[in-house]
Amino acid sequence: MEKAIPAHVSVIMDGNGRWARQRGLERIQGHLEGVKSVRACTEECVRLGVKYLSVFAFSEENWGRPAAEVEFLMKLLGKTMIEELSTLMDNGVRFVVVGNRARLAPSLLSAIEDLENKTAKNDVLTLIVFLSYSGKWDILQAARRLAAELAADPGRSVGEQDFAAYLSTAAFPDPDLLIRTSGEQRISNYMLWQTAYTEFYFTDVLWPDFREEHLRTALEEYARRDRRYGKVK
Ligand code: FPP
Repeated sequence: MEKAIPAHVSVIMDGNGRWARQRGLERIQGHLEGVKSVRACTEECVRLGVKYLSVFAFSEENWGRPAAEVEFLMKLLGKTMIEELSTLMDNGVRFVVVGNRARLAPSLLSAIEDLENKTAKNDVLTLIVFLSYSGKWDILQAARRLAAELAADPGRSVGEQDFAAYLSTAAFPDPDLLIRTSGEQRISNYMLWQTAYTEFYFTDVLWPDFREEHLRTALEEYARRDRRYGKVK
């Protein structure tokens, strides 16, 4: 397995609500338990030598959930950021948020910026939290910024790499492996451009149940995949 550790593992964390319902609990209990899965997977990625772990925590579409749940999730994310600082520092984890920051509350933004600044020099693993993110939003914001620059320099040629430099993920490699939990098999407006050659792994396990052993199983499956990038090997 050692020879095929992916550099970037991404996760669409799904099934918190169903996990709670199965136990007769409120949905928010599922989100609370889901935080433990993020912690477990982060620590396992550090142990295994994965360099980037990204998690889809809140989509642009999630703003349409009931106000009480949105409010709970935002508070939970802010609180978790404050609480996890020492664990991130102990593990050498750099923390980064990607998404439409214009929609986030000032108090959450300052918690994000504080954690990003304090962990900026850590280089064992980068934990990327996608927050108020959608793939179409990302492509559109990139196109808008590029168009503004092209207006001033219309002769400039633009290739795939030039365009990718405007995406909000420009500083990170594209995901090698995308895991989606809870049995759903769709991309849900996540990284649309960046997953062009990503390996997909779907599991029925609900996110609050997804822990170290499940991540290792996904990585074992990844190691057996034959990545050809559209070519012949
Ligand atoms: C999906 O379950 C999960 C989310 C909407 C994201 C929230 C994730 C967490 C709170 C985990 C913690 C994250 C971080 C970065 C610390 P769902 O509500 O869609 O479940 P359902 O499909 O069963 O209703």
